[in-house]
Amino acid sequence: MRVLEVSNYEEMSALAAELIGAQVLLKPRCVLGLATGSSPIGTYERLVEAHREGRLDFSQVRTVNLDEYCGLRGDDPNSYRFFMDHHLFSRVNLQRENTHLPNGAAPDLEEECHRYEALIQSLGGVDLQLLGIGRNGHIGFNEPSDSFPPVVHTVQLTESTIQANSRLFERIEDVPTQAITMGVGTILKAERILLIAGADKRYILEEALTGRVTPQVPASVLQLHRDVTVIVCREE
Ligand code: F6R
Repeated sequence: MRVLEVSNYEEMSALAAELIGAQVLLKPRCVLGLATGSSPIGTYERLVEAHREGRLDFSQVRTVNLDEYCGLRGDDPNSYRFFMDHHLFSRVNLQRENTHLPNGAAPDLEEECHRYEALIQSLGGVDLQLLGIGRNGHIGFNEPSDSFPPVVHTVQLTESTIQANSRLFERIEDVPTQAITMGVGTILKAERILLIAGADKRYILEEALTGRVTPQVPASVLQLHRDVTVIVCREE
């Protein structure tokens, strides 16, 4: 595992975008695993810049996102599909049919989980998975629990995650209580993992990277993966 300390969010975003850009240069038809949330917004901004400056071509890239809220359609401004369209997909030359997220509005969520897991494997697996980390150590929406979920599944969001995510909703009652997420097993199958964390996550990151490997701190499982890069900020 490589842990790269940077001064601030700007530096984190620039470095993460360089590493993702390098993956695209290395393998133009790669599969990028992507995340939503505050942490990657700056990274996506830098990727858009690189594309606009003619340094990055996404025409063959395929993407799979970690997760999606249940009950929200892709055109709902709070859905992760909407977030990705807004911050990245519509601003670079990704082919829309090459961008994938779980469908949180699917009538049969169990079936949707199977479909999404099979889809990721049918693309040949993820070359580079971008991750953020929750204050409770979650990755994707894999919350602290008694075991590491192996595959794509639905989850009940914890109170702390609902609280944390409510900043993006008008009312806390509007935050969905369920989501579909890649399992920890799905995430670990990625060839390479890039985790980005702001200074507010230093405490939980330290516990995840140096403490015991336990599903109570889902990110601790990354200690077992062969190719993880962590970028962490010193300051807010
Ligand atoms: C997002 C995701 C979550 C976030 C985590 C950190 O797709 O899966 O695990 O990465 O909650 O969120 P931020 O970056 O908003 O602090």
